[in-house]
Parts: sequence; C-alpha cells; structure tokens
Amino acid sequence: MASRMVHAANPICETMKKYIIQFAHQHLDFRIPEIRSIVSLIGCEASLKECDLVSGSPFMEIKLKNDTDAMRIMKRSVLSKRVYELWAEGTSVKEVKDKIDSLPSEVTEEYTNNGKSFRIIVETFNKKISSAEKIKKIELLTESASVFQAKINLRTPDVSFHLLEFYENDSKPSEEPLKVFFGRWVADGQRDAIQQYHLQKRHFIANTSMDACLSMVMANLAQVKHDDFVMDPFVGSGSLLVSSAHYGAYVMGTDIDYLLLHARAKPSRACQKTRASDESVRQNLQQYGLESRYIDVMVADASRHRVWRKGCRFDAIITDPPYGIRESAAKIATVDESQVKEVEGAPHYPQKAQYNIGDIYKDLLNFAAKFLELGGRLVYWLPIFRPEYQESNIPQHPCLRLESNCEQPLNLSISRRLITMVKDKEFEEIHNSEGASIAVDQYEKESFRQKYFKAVVAAGSAEKQSS
Ligand SMILES: C[S@@+](CC[C@H](N)C(=O)[O-])C[C@H]1O[C@@H](n2cnc3c(N)ncnc32)[C@H](O)[C@@H]1O
Repeated sequence: MASRMVHAANPICETMKKYIIQFAHQHLDFRIPEIRSIVSLIGCEASLKECDLVSGSPFMEIKLKNDTDAMRIMKRSVLSKRVYELWAEGTSVKEVKDKIDSLPSEVTEEYTNNGKSFRIIVETFNKKISSAEKIKKIELLTESASVFQAKINLRTPDVSFHLLEFYENDSKPSEEPLKVFFGRWVADGQRDAIQQYHLQKRHFIANTSMDACLSMVMANLAQVKHDDFVMDPFVGSGSLLVSSAHYGAYVMGTDIDYLLLHARAKPSRACQKTRASDESVRQNLQQYGLESRYIDVMVADASRHRVWRKGCRFDAIITDPPYGIRESAAKIATVDESQVKEVEGAPHYPQKAQYNIGDIYKDLLNFAAKFLELGGRLVYWLPIFRPEYQESNIPQHPCLRLESNCEQPLNLSISRRLITMVKDKEFEEIHNSEGASIAVDQYEKESFRQKYFKAVVAAGSAEKQSS
C-alpha cells in the first residue's frame, strides 16, 4: 500500500485565479471541511474565502491555479454542485455587466472568440423570477458588450456562462439581490453519485445503514485514494466500505453481529419477510462492480484488538459505532475461562456485556493509534446531547490530531458529530502514556440512550402542551 505524505500548504502564488463553488443546500457544516480535505488530498494550492458562507449563501470563493485543479476538486466533492471561473461580482446585474466589459482580453478571448458558441443561464437563490425577467437580465448583460459576440447555442454550447443572484432569505424577499456573480462553468460536482449509490436500490441494508452522500463525505474526509487499505470495525451492511471502494480502496470490516453478516438477521425493509441468502457486504460491492476491492468482513468484537497482527496497517479507519438506540452496543464479556463448561460438539456462544459509549470511543482511538499508517485518518461519528456539549467531550489520543469536527443536528437536543483525526505520531513513541481519554465524558453518569429518550419524552409533552 502506498505510504501517505502529510501535505504541506504552499504559499499562494500571484497567478491564482478566482473560482466560485456552488454548494448543494445539504450538510452545511461539512462543506468547507470536505473541500479542505480534497484540496490537501490532491495537493493543489488553494485559498478559501470561508466567510462567504456566513450569510447562508451557497457560494464560496476559492482561488486556484487553473481549471484542472478546479476539475480535480469537483471530481471528488459530493457537497458541491458546480464550480465556475469567477468573471465578475457585484450587487446588481448592471455593476456586473460593467465589470465584464472592462475585463482584460487575456481572460475572455479564449472563450468568446474563435467561433466558439455560448449560452447564459440565470439562476436565482431565495427568490423565484419568471423566464421573461431572466431574458431581460440576459439582454441587459449582453447589450453592446463586445464579449458576447459569438454564436448562441442553448443546447450544446462550447462555453456556459452563469448569472447567479443571491437574495436575502427573508419571508419577504427583497427587490435587490445581496450578491450577483457571473462565472464561466468549469465542472460539476459528484451529486449524481448520491443517486447511483442510493440505499433504496442497495441489495443489503441494515437498520442504520449510512446514506450514500454522508458515506462519500466520510471517504473524502478520510482522504481515501486508489489502492488504500480501509477498515470499518463496526461494519454493519458496509456502506462505508462501498464509498471507500468507489474511490479505489481495498476494504474490510468487522461486526459483532453474526446474524447480520450471515443474512439471518430480521430484515430492515418493511416490505420484506426474510432476508435473501445472498444479502451480504460482498454482494453490495458486487452490485456496483467493486468486488475486486473487497477483502472480507469478519465476525469480531471491536473492543478486542488481539486478533490483529502487529504490523498490520490501515490507510484509513472509517466507522459509525453503535449509539445504543437502534442497534445494541455490546461486547464480549470477560469471563473466567475455567468456569466455562465445554460440551463436545455443541456451539459455544460467548456471553455479551454492555459496551459503554466512552469505552467504545477509547477502544476505537487506541485501535487507530496502533493500526493506522502515519498520516492516515480516522473518521467516525460521535452522538451528542446538544444542551451539554463542549469540546472536551471529543475523545483524544496523543498519537491523533483533531482535523475537523462537523455537526449534523438530528433534533433540538440530539446531534451527531463527524470527527476526523490524523495520526501524526507512532504508537511506540508514546509508550508511557495511558492512550485514549475523554476529558469530559457526556455519558459517564447517564447513557446516550437515557438522555435520548428523556429528550424524546420532553419534546412530546411540550408538543402536547402547545396544542
Ligand atoms: C451504526 S451500526 C453501523 C452501520 C454501518 N455503518 C452500515 O452502514 O450499515 C453499528 C454496528 O456496530 C455493530 N457492533 C456493536 N457492538 C460491536 C462490537 N463490540 N464490535 C463490533 N461491532 C459491533 C452493530 O452490530 C452494528 O452493526
């Protein structure tokens, strides 16, 4: 497996061009970390203007060297819709038109001459306008402009320009846009992949299968690349292996649930009475033509690391541990072996014990510290009781540096956070340390399950009172 270099940011050079990314209105907190992670994975120079997103705008300016880098970023991003080369911005179409008129020919010539055809698409955000109004805007933009003298081709143009207007998100939209951008379309993001891998069409799903979009975001945050070796210790139906294999990684996982991995668990689809005998993680990879990337899944307890040989190294560990709500969090109980009576020929079912959330995460970080490549990434979900959340709830390990922490709110009191950590120290270097710790464990006195159901009951009684 290729060893991983930690990318050092280069100073931004003078010749950078301005681009604008248009994001989908989904998983807002994850958009910048996804782009940052992709930029560092492909190793291009980039400067992001993060403040752009504060007003709720779907646009973010990014400076890049050229179209090739913009295309490479879009080839990975699932949260981006498109990227444009930014030609002009302002607060009105008139202002934008004046700026386009004064652009130097080095910027425009290649796209507006040499017999190239073009079209202009008008899109508005937070306000609907009629086709007639859109045409008016195009006429205003193109009248007397030397830039737009080429042939118009609405269906298959050589160049697509986009006029993008962003209005304030108020109950009564204002007449004037907050911001207007004019850009040359460069590339689309990977939104189509979300449909391609949609769970509705997935052969084998479990109760908590991760949706296609978030699975791909996780693979991007983990910087999964071709020929990487990726592991999910709480594999379930293998959604995170599917997205990692999509990016070319070899994948494997473990799960304590024998029945689930052997297609004997209760079906997760309401319309299904029994599981088909071929419902398996392997079959999911085969469904997408990714079977060559499948290593295997094993029935194993993630709290026990002894099954792993010393020297075994993963490029990334991507996982969604059990929160104890829709699937149980159990581990093999420690028992006195001398007390276990073996009956010859009879199967042995090990006793299970409750697996506390704090222990799950400490075990996970200790596992990552030992078995990740240096520079490799651990990406995992952490359930959060929002009223009590503080940064000291995030598990830590002396070998692992926190890279990003994004929140997905599930309701007012409950969310989950997607944590990305990078291994920047070898496990052997810290032999005197105690390993993973959680400075303030939210679930030390009351489990996440107890907090979750208390919040559900409180929300229910508040609703009753207000109705
Ligand atoms: C949230 S689910 C993972 C879902 C998975 N990402 C998917 O897309 O299907 C958590 C999984 O952890 C498994 N699990 C619970 N305790 C475990 C343990 N001690 N060791 C390994 N797996 C465990 C459960 O059986 C469950 O399948």
